[in-house]
Order: sequence, then C-alpha cells, then structure tokens
Amino acid sequence: MLYIYAMHFELTEEHLMIRQAARDFAQNELKPGVIERDEHQKFPAEQIKKLGELGFLGMMVSPQYGGSGMDAISYSIVMEELSKVDASASVVVSVNNSLVCYGLEKYGNEEQKQKFLIPLAQGEKIGAFCLSEPEAGSDATSQRTTAIDMGDHYLLNGTKNWITNGSTASTYIVMAQTDASKKHKGINALIVEKGMEGFTVGAKENKLGIRGSDTHSLMFTDVKVPKENRIGEDGFGFKFAMATLEGGRIGIASQALGIAAGAYELSIQYAKERKAFGKTIADLQAIQFKLADMATEIEAARLLCYRAAWLKDNGLPYAQAASMAKLFASETAMRTTVEAVQIHGGYGYVKEYHVERLMRDAKITQIYEGTSEIQRIVISREVLK
Ligand code: CAA
Repeated sequence: MLYIYAMHFELTEEHLMIRQAARDFAQNELKPGVIERDEHQKFPAEQIKKLGELGFLGMMVSPQYGGSGMDAISYSIVMEELSKVDASASVVVSVNNSLVCYGLEKYGNEEQKQKFLIPLAQGEKIGAFCLSEPEAGSDATSQRTTAIDMGDHYLLNGTKNWITNGSTASTYIVMAQTDASKKHKGINALIVEKGMEGFTVGAKENKLGIRGSDTHSLMFTDVKVPKENRIGEDGFGFKFAMATLEGGRIGIASQALGIAAGAYELSIQYAKERKAFGKTIADLQAIQFKLADMATEIEAARLLCYRAAWLKDNGLPYAQAASMAKLFASETAMRTTVEAVQIHGGYGYVKEYHVERLMRDAKITQIYEGTSEIQRIVISREVLK
C-alpha cells in the first residue's frame, strides 16, 4: 500500500500575511494601554471593535454568514500573535470564534444563523458561552440551571459562573437541564438575548489575570426563551458544549502559546541589553539554558497547536490533539512566564516590563475551557480506547 504523508512545516503566503496583520495590530493597537487596562480591569472595547472590522471575530465562519472563511491554522496564528501582547483581548476573540460562532454555524438552523450568527461573525455583537455553574465546573454534566419545557418556550432558572464577555455580550448560549432523569441527554443549549426579562448580570469578577476581560456571574429567573432558540434536537446541549469546546481548546492552546512566546521574546530582548558581571546576561550560560528550554517548549507547543488545527481543517477527529495542545501549551505558558520573570530579576516583578502580567495571565490557561486535569482525562480516554 502506498502512503502519502503530507508534512509541510511551512506556512502559506496567506498565513504569513495574516500573521503580519495580527502582529501589527497587537503592537499598534493592543500594546498601548495594556498595562492600564490590566490594572483598572478595563475591557478593551475599542480594540475589540477594530478586531471585528478586521474580520478576526468570525475568522472561520463562511463569508455567506458574514465571516472571513479562514482556516483553523490562521485562527491559531492570530490567537498567538494577539496573546503575546494582550490575553484579555484574545480571550474575547477565542470565545466569540470557537464557542459561539463555530457552534452556531455547525449546529444552528438557517434562521438562527441569519438572526444571530451574522452580527456575531461581523463583530457587530459579541457572544458568550455559558456552561460553568457555582457547583458544576469540570463536572459539566451536573447542570443545576433548569430549562423547563412550557410548550412554545423554555422557562430558564439558575446561575452561571465565570462567564467571559458576561456584560459585554449580546448573545448568550446557555446550557440548561430540561429533564434531569436523562442526565446529560436532558441538557439543552439555548440562545438567550441580553434584555430578556428575568436575565441579570452579576458583579464583575476581580481576577488574578486577564483582568481586562469581562467575567461575570449571570442570573436567570423565569426567563422565557422561545423554543426556536434551542440549538439542535431536544437533549443535544451537552454534546453541543463538548463539541464546541474541542475547537475552543485549540484557541486557548494558541493563547497559551502566545503568552509564552511573548514572555520569551521580551526575555531575549532584555537578556541582550542587561549587563551584569561585565557582560550582557545573554552571555551567561545560566540565562542561555533558560532561553534554550523556553524556545524548545514553545516550538513544541506551536507544532501541537498547528497539528490540532490541521486535523480540524481536514475534517479529521481532533479532540485528543486539541487537549494535548492545550495541556502542553498551558503548562509551557506557566513555566516560561515564571522563568521570564526570573530572567528580568527585580524588573520582572514590576508592571512596566510586562512579564509579571503575562505570568498572571498564563495561569488561567490551565483552568478555563477545561483544566489541565480535564485535558488529561480526554487524552487518556483516547489512549486507553
Ligand atoms: N463531542 C461530542 N460529544 C461528546 C464529546 C465531544 N467532544 N465528548 C463527550 N461527548 C459525549 C459522549 O459521547 C457522551 O455521549 P453518549 O452518552 O451519547 O455516549 C456524553 O457526551 C457524555 O460524555 P462523557 O461520558 O465523556 O461525560 P463525562 O461526564 O465523563 O465528562 C468531561 C466528560 C470531559 C469531563 C467533560 O465534562 C468536560 O469536558 N468537562 C470540562 C468542562 C469545561 O471544559 N468547561 C469549560 C467551561 S467554558 C469556558 O471556560 C469558556 C470561557 O469562558 C473561556
């Protein structure tokens, strides 16, 4: 049998152009003010609007529905470049693209796509994905939020926690339990709009990292959600959430990669400038070894991200690859940013040098869209199949 292996390690011209556009945007639009936005927990509203104009909020959505029709590798590239500078902005890009637009395009019906997907893909509106609850984080099947079937609508009651874009979103995809006796097969995914009666947004979370992003609890009290806002068949909500999270994990893996790469690039620059013991610290083997380890791990993380994205682009199963990318890239982000602070010494511990923020931002990549332990569960299940 003849096997043809496609192993191209070069990016296409188009990928390189997209990378340059994202890199320029990060330097020119995200970097100014990033320290202040982090300190004051200020949402990067203007920057997100511009990212929408560039087509980065609906990157993989087909042009028919207002998107840019790009591949998942382009998405990974953009996530890396934006996250080198501002992970608070890039998480908005990731959630809107992967957890909201992708899910609506793949599983929504035509009416839902016309009404909800187009404005989200064009960046006119922002979306949120609402799965986590006060007592259901990793154990996502244990949804306490209920969506009781009332004939022509669902009556939604419950609380969602740690919702990215919690107050800035207009369109929320909310997972809720319709029939508890069916366990995960009784969960539905409902599209909830801002302004629906009984829907309130709680206080903003005061976070360790990604402080510019807008994270809230959401409360639903007898919210009437029309039946036509349900995505897929009755009971499809849990599978919807799992399937969209697969793609989301490529986004967060790429975010973690970007955080690591950002800290690494700053460390190279600093090591070449900073003098100690009569030479630059880049001449010291202790620093060289740290930089070599960082470079190696970042490259490995990048390859895992691209592989997962390539599998997705080619219609192949990618759940395990996405979890491997997220697990490795997020651990790399944590290790690399800690070392970056160490290389910068006292300067690394103050805000002006950016690496302390990247270190704080790195931590969330080991937690959201499935903790590192969840990724290990997904990977080991495949390995043991
Ligand atoms: N695609 C489609 N279906 C899937 C699936 C996938 N990737 N993974 C599982 N399923 C299906 C299974 O086939 C099964 O269906 P059947 O019963 O019909 O066979 C069903 O879902 C239940 O699957 P499991 O038995 O595997 O469920 P489990 O209870 O053991 O949980 C888990 C699996 C991997 C632990 C899952 O609960 C999980 O991923 N938890 C983490 C949740 C998470 O990532 N939360 C992040 C919140 S979102 C967020 O952070 C966004 C943000 O704001 C940035």
